[in-house]
Amino acid sequence: QKLDIELAAIEKGGYEHFMIKEIHEQPQAIFDSLRGRLDAENLSITLSGLEKIKDKLTAARRIIIVACGTSWHAGLLAEYWIEELCRVNVEVEYASEFRYRNPIISSDDVIIAISQSGETADTLVALENAKTQGATIFGIVNVVGSSIARISDAGIYTHAGPEIGVASTKAFSAQLTVLLLFAIKLAEYKETVSEDLRKELIKELSIIPEKVKHILDSSIDNIKEIAVKYQHATDFLFLGRGYNFPIALEGALKLKEISYIHAEGYPAAEMKHGPIALVDETLPVVFVATKDRVHEKIVSNMQEIKARSGKLISVVTEDDQLAIDLSDEHIKIPVSHEMIAPILAVIPLQLLSYYVGIERQIDVDRPRNLAKSVTVE
Ligand code: G6P
Repeated sequence: QKLDIELAAIEKGGYEHFMIKEIHEQPQAIFDSLRGRLDAENLSITLSGLEKIKDKLTAARRIIIVACGTSWHAGLLAEYWIEELCRVNVEVEYASEFRYRNPIISSDDVIIAISQSGETADTLVALENAKTQGATIFGIVNVVGSSIARISDAGIYTHAGPEIGVASTKAFSAQLTVLLLFAIKLAEYKETVSEDLRKELIKELSIIPEKVKHILDSSIDNIKEIAVKYQHATDFLFLGRGYNFPIALEGALKLKEISYIHAEGYPAAEMKHGPIALVDETLPVVFVATKDRVHEKIVSNMQEIKARSGKLISVVTEDDQLAIDLSDEHIKIPVSHEMIAPILAVIPLQLLSYYVGIERQIDVDRPRNLAKSVTVE
């Protein structure tokens, strides 16, 4: 048994838990997912998996994304990216709903499956069904040779490395990286993106690992303090708009999984239609409020929460004094393009859930009732 304990300690590479180790591995995981695909010198992207079904993809009437859990959140952000850059209709589906509802699928459809494990039963069966109806399957999978990788007609592996912690962290940021590469490349094929934007996004993508590292190096003490302060809250609200809405959902999911605190993610403007009734001086409201095209709108949502005495915890762009002044607590992330910012904004939320879980003495690597991979219904 002593040997088991020592082996586990070695595997954790000096970290107390796999989850925090994997959070810290994100600069490398993102770098590995870009390697051999993004050429920052020539400002080009090569994705052989995408090349393989290029004609199908450029002609597709629509793209349907199928996934579960955190992978579904990556899919939701991909919808925003792909529709913006590629001007093709994208639908994002929970695999468990999609498989049972007799969806309309044709051979003009391309299905993107997103899965860390490649073994999630609902996702796998949804794909099997779609395949028999003639759809083309494109897999974005972390585990090489897994069932979903094998059923796919083509795909791109995320190179996040093995993820042990039940709550997905580095697999998520690697999924986002690959999905953005996918969107930029498809837009290039379809000629729906300007050269300036394409180049800017490629440049920005190439420096994400450094920016993630900067967040990890600079924000942990601040986040630990926030975790200590709010660990006893019974509910949390996570709000975001546009590209940051899926990140708000992911922040809420992480907190639920790792701290057992009830948390809801919502589109910030939609709070007026329900969640605002929950707001009082005991409710922490996490805003994912980086500078983007809807920034002014989210700032007014922040003011609405403040007027009702909610506690504002914000993830903000580092030079955004207005949002900083409005917030009770803030976590800064580096300035970046609005399409890239969500990949950065999720990092502080992962850290927040980890440190709240630690304060509440939860087994963060193996939270109750959850499984790393759900291979049965
Ligand atoms: C489980 C895990 C989640 C994961 C989801 C989908 O619920 O606990 O972390 O996001 O399954 O898994 P997949 O392997 O398909 O990405």
